[in-house]
Amino acid sequence: MGKLDGKIALVTGAARGIGQAIALRLAADGADLALADVKAEWLGDTAAKVRALGRRAEVFAVDVSDGAAVEAGVAAVVAAFGGLDILVNNAGITRDGLLVRMDEASWDAVLGINLKGVFLMTKAAAKTMMRARSGAIVNVASIVGITGNPGQANYTASKGGVIALTKTCAKELGARGIRVNAVAPGFIHTAMTDALKPEIREAMLKTIPLARAGEPEDVAAVVAFLAGPDAAYVSGQTIPVCGGMI
Ligand code: NAI
Repeated sequence: MGKLDGKIALVTGAARGIGQAIALRLAADGADLALADVKAEWLGDTAAKVRALGRRAEVFAVDVSDGAAVEAGVAAVVAAFGGLDILVNNAGITRDGLLVRMDEASWDAVLGINLKGVFLMTKAAAKTMMRARSGAIVNVASIVGITGNPGQANYTASKGGVIALTKTCAKELGARGIRVNAVAPGFIHTAMTDALKPEIREAMLKTIPLARAGEPEDVAAVVAFLAGPDAAYVSGQTIPVCGGMI
């Protein structure tokens, strides 16, 4: 018996990286998976791996920053699976640059996906969860949304916003049986961090007490905890998954 047997989970940005690891962990714990990504053509790999674990997987092309696409996507998920128990808002991007050189397009792109996307997805999913008077939402923030980080004005603002939004949603939705929490990953080994310059990667590693980069599976384990029954009395919280960095 898995802790998420019979649950239907929707994960955004599920094509690769942390999102794929979250989808696989939730499937291993017994959930069926609705996999959403703007790159729907990349989702086949995650879907095949979920099915190999014996769980159902369906793929949905959704740009989380587009309100109409989000409404249609969540409606399609609910129609296909007959409900929605768990939402993981994982999709996110970076467009790094120093504040004085950052253009409006970089600001808008990052805030549109990382913050507005969480708002739109949560609003759409909450309608179904409120009717069921049950649900769990887990947002993927970042420790830099707590600490700040030079070169990431847009990204840190978006992730700080996600942490505040998590608290407000927990307060608004708690009476309907819906828990809302966040994880704040530190330095995790994915395509996003592989793109960093080697000297920046080395400098980051020196700041981690556990002396290694995190793996996507390290984040997925905490997401599964927050989504599942062991966190039944946890809401509005942000758990850093950062090897002790903060
Ligand atoms: P990634 O770039 O490997 O994967 C992100 C996924 O999101 C991709 O599949 C991409 O196609 C999808 N995506 C991008 N824009 C989208 C949109 N508009 N609508 C739907 N899907 C979209 O990134 P990674 O590293 O797996 O990051 C996942 C989450 O974890 C992000 O929210 C990121 O900010 C967060 N995070 C990552 C850390 C790291 O060290 N890698 C550290 C802290 C937070």
